[in-house]
Amino acid sequence: MKVLILLGLVFLPMLAHGKVYERCELARVLKRNGLHGFRSNSVADWVCLAKWESDYNTKATNYNPGDQSTDYGIFQINSHYWCNDGKTPDAKNVCGISCRDLLTDNISKAITCAKRVVRDPSGIRAWVAWRNRCQGKNLSSYIQGCRL
Ligand SMILES: *[C@@H]1O[C@H](CO)[C@@H](O)[C@H](O)[C@H]1NC(C)=O
Ligand SMILES: *[C@@H]1O[C@H](CO)[C@@H](O)[C@H](O)[C@H]1NC(C)=O
Repeated sequence: MKVLILLGLVFLPMLAHGKVYERCELARVLKRNGLHGFRSNSVADWVCLAKWESDYNTKATNYNPGDQSTDYGIFQINSHYWCNDGKTPDAKNVCGISCRDLLTDNISKAITCAKRVVRDPSGIRAWVAWRNRCQGKNLSSYIQGCRL
């Protein structure tokens, strides 16, 4: 009993928080999945974007009262256009996925959907945090020390 309670204390917060990527680990996964140079964005652009959108947390969600949509996961992909969460009015689900699939430790679906997002004319500028925190900045610190 005591042991179970202790195990619960140790493991439940990990479940609630999901996987939080380490900066260089994320950079390597993004590169391995073909994001370096994709639509002329570098791995550093994506790491910077993930830093300021989710702080590298795969379980991050944020509700937008304006259109009643929610942003999901490490890239904070929005349920109005890109995924289906079953509760967003007038949702398009362009990526053809459940928004829950954007909250898993394995970010391969989030990466596939992010590639779809940047195929639109606004490209990576679709992400407000990228425009505010990464655009036009020296992003070398985001991949500094990473074995890429
Ligand atoms: C992540 O999932 C994809 C398929 O959805 C799979 O091909 C890949 O091997 C998985 N990556 C890891 C690290 O488990
Ligand atoms: C970006 O910053 C790094 C480290 O501070 C520096 O070495 C590099 O020269 C800078 N690049 C540009 C284009 O300013």
